[in-house]
Amino acid sequence: MKFFVDSADIREIRQAVEWGVCDGVTTNPSLVAATGRPLAEVVADITAVVDGPISVEATALDADGLWKQAREIGTVHPNIVVKIPMTREGMQVTRLCSKAGIKTNVTLVFSAIQALLAAKAGATFVSPFIGRLDDIATDGMQLVQDIETLYGNYLFDTEVIVASVRHPMHVLEAARLGADICTIPFGVLKKLYDHPLTDIGIERFLKDWEKVPGKTVK
Ligand code: G3P
Repeated sequence: MKFFVDSADIREIRQAVEWGVCDGVTTNPSLVAATGRPLAEVVADITAVVDGPISVEATALDADGLWKQAREIGTVHPNIVVKIPMTREGMQVTRLCSKAGIKTNVTLVFSAIQALLAAKAGATFVSPFIGRLDDIATDGMQLVQDIETLYGNYLFDTEVIVASVRHPMHVLEAARLGADICTIPFGVLKKLYDHPLTDIGIERFLKDWEKVPGKTVK
């Protein structure tokens, strides 16, 4: 499973790249707003450090505006993927992008039928938002499983990005289901490394190490 970082914060993204766990990045208007920086600067910084797909969201609602934005965003850098909302107009433009060779990530997907429509429109990626479904007492992971089944039935190339991830169990479940990608907020990414027994083990080894005479291998 590929790990994308769900962030627009260049410090977080750079850290994930250094750790070797950043196969790509997903941003959205809320994440960009949280940086307090202009979109162009944020995108330039990310493209400079990440060697993989970087999703940047289009915000127009009508098809003409969306298509114009998609061409602007999609040609900024070869790694840029245009994030397009799951609407009728969005799918119309996703189809145009697919024909024009512009990569797309269909976002705000909350049903398997929406994911089927995205794949039929030629989306490169589809983003089911599992955390927001869990928030309303609906099984987000079941949606991922349903999408995997539909895509398997018809051998679509569209890759599934498990999004709106809130905790390490979401990452584990995504991997159990064989999802292509999980996009992970930095706070959750850090937690993936942690285990109390690891901390206790390190502490114990270091304590015992103090008793070893010499402490060198040569
Ligand atoms: O990738 C989508 C993600 O940014 C949305 O997450 O936590 O706002 O539902 P959240």
